[in-house]
Amino acid sequence: MSPATPDLRGRVAVVTGATGGMGREIAARLAEAGARLVTVARDPVRAAGILGPEVDVVSGDLSRRDDVLRAAEIIAGRYEQVHILVNNAGGHFARHRLSADGVEMHVALDYLAAFGLMTRLEGPLRRGRARVVNVASDTLNDTRQITVAGRPRPATLDLAGVDSLARLNPAAGFVPFEAYARAKLMTVTAGYALARDLAPDGVTVNAVHPGIVSTDLIDDLVPPPLRPFRGLIRRTLLTPAQGAEPAVRLATAPGGTGKYFNRDAETATPPVSHDPATQQRLLALSESHFTR
Ligand SMILES: NC(=O)c1ccc[n+]([C@@H]2O[C@H](COP(=O)([O-])OP(=O)(O)OC[C@H]3O[C@@H](n4cnc5c(N)ncnc54)[C@H](OP(=O)(O)O)[C@@H]3O)[C@@H](O)[C@H]2O)c1
Repeated sequence: MSPATPDLRGRVAVVTGATGGMGREIAARLAEAGARLVTVARDPVRAAGILGPEVDVVSGDLSRRDDVLRAAEIIAGRYEQVHILVNNAGGHFARHRLSADGVEMHVALDYLAAFGLMTRLEGPLRRGRARVVNVASDTLNDTRQITVAGRPRPATLDLAGVDSLARLNPAAGFVPFEAYARAKLMTVTAGYALARDLAPDGVTVNAVHPGIVSTDLIDDLVPPPLRPFRGLIRRTLLTPAQGAEPAVRLATAPGGTGKYFNRDAETATPPVSHDPATQQRLLALSESHFTR
């Protein structure tokens, strides 16, 4: 057991995206500390092969509404309490793609999966006085891929007149990095509101940017002319184990709620993420996505 991680025996930890990258490291650290590990994976046989028989693998593609609902129902049926939820599964999609439910993929996977698990596991989370960690990205504070000069360009989220989340990140004018950043901004925005709702039961909801980490996701972001140098680029980045550290700390160490961290530094997010009207509209639109 890592000396920094408290004893988690008897604790239930749900970690999404545990089959690769940072999620695998987060899951390993929590399991090493004694937690009962649960994950949701779109290829459960492959996931069981990677994670071993002691991990409870629930089948589900987290970009799909029905799969999120079913996975949450299975987890809530098996575990009276959930003590840790790390919404880590995510992706960056270079082209405009719709989920099976007609929602742009960043919105579906990088936001709605986290919202769905936080709300559909509400009972077990409240009973477990859970620590929820959403793995976000500091692209929400600056959507520029090259940042040598000029002012940061935060992600935007304007829900005025939006009647469905299917309207966000449309094909017209699609910029992948901005679409990804908007989804992460949505996760942080909803997280602030849910943190307030869940606080009376001792649940904390925080978000973290893990740093720039050498995982498969990064390969998608390397422009084609630089692809031959992928190996070199990756060596300059944090390792998945290093990237996992802040999420593990937030999931296990006592601390506040409704905060966003750039690695270990508490950091501001765009003002819109704190706007009560935007938060309430986002919760309502997300709720209707899961109830229609
Ligand atoms: N890498 C970075 O520099 C960086 C920076 C900021 C934030 N992040 C965030 O960190 C988190 C982890 O990213 P990573 O870099 O570790 O990525 P990664 O290596 O690509 O791992 C992504 C994980 O998510 C799972 N996943 C993807 N689509 C899924 C789906 N539809 N249903 C269920 N699971 C799905 C993958 O499972 P499969 O095995 O099925 O593919 C995999 O386990 C993401 O939220 C990402 O946005 C990463």
